[in-house]
Amino acid sequence: MNRPDTNGLHFVVPSADVPPPSSMVRLIAGDLPICLVHADDGHFYAIEDRCSHEDFPLSEGELDGYTVECPRHGSRFDIRNGAVLNLPAILPVTAFDVQLINDDVIVRLETT
Ligand code: FES
Repeated sequence: MNRPDTNGLHFVVPSADVPPPSSMVRLIAGDLPICLVHADDGHFYAIEDRCSHEDFPLSEGELDGYTVECPRHGSRFDIRNGAVLNLPAILPVTAFDVQLINDDVIVRLETT
């Protein structure tokens, strides 16, 4: 169940949807797909869950350290900032700040 706050700028991840370490999950905040990553370093990262090449869900790809590889054509993205690391994608994906407050994982949907 999605629980965006009243102004829609934050998304509180339901505890049942929080991925275990070294894994990722697809979440839907309103109509925005988010790939929430629980990285090897213990921190959470969030990027838009649409490859910038052909909109494929990155959450279905492979996580390797700070990179996720699109399962469709193999472009890799940095989960810390959304940067694209190799072709065929040429554009980054949006990265979102993630905060941990009182055991709640909160994705900030606004970007700077
Ligand atoms: S759809 Fe992701 S690399 Fe092509």
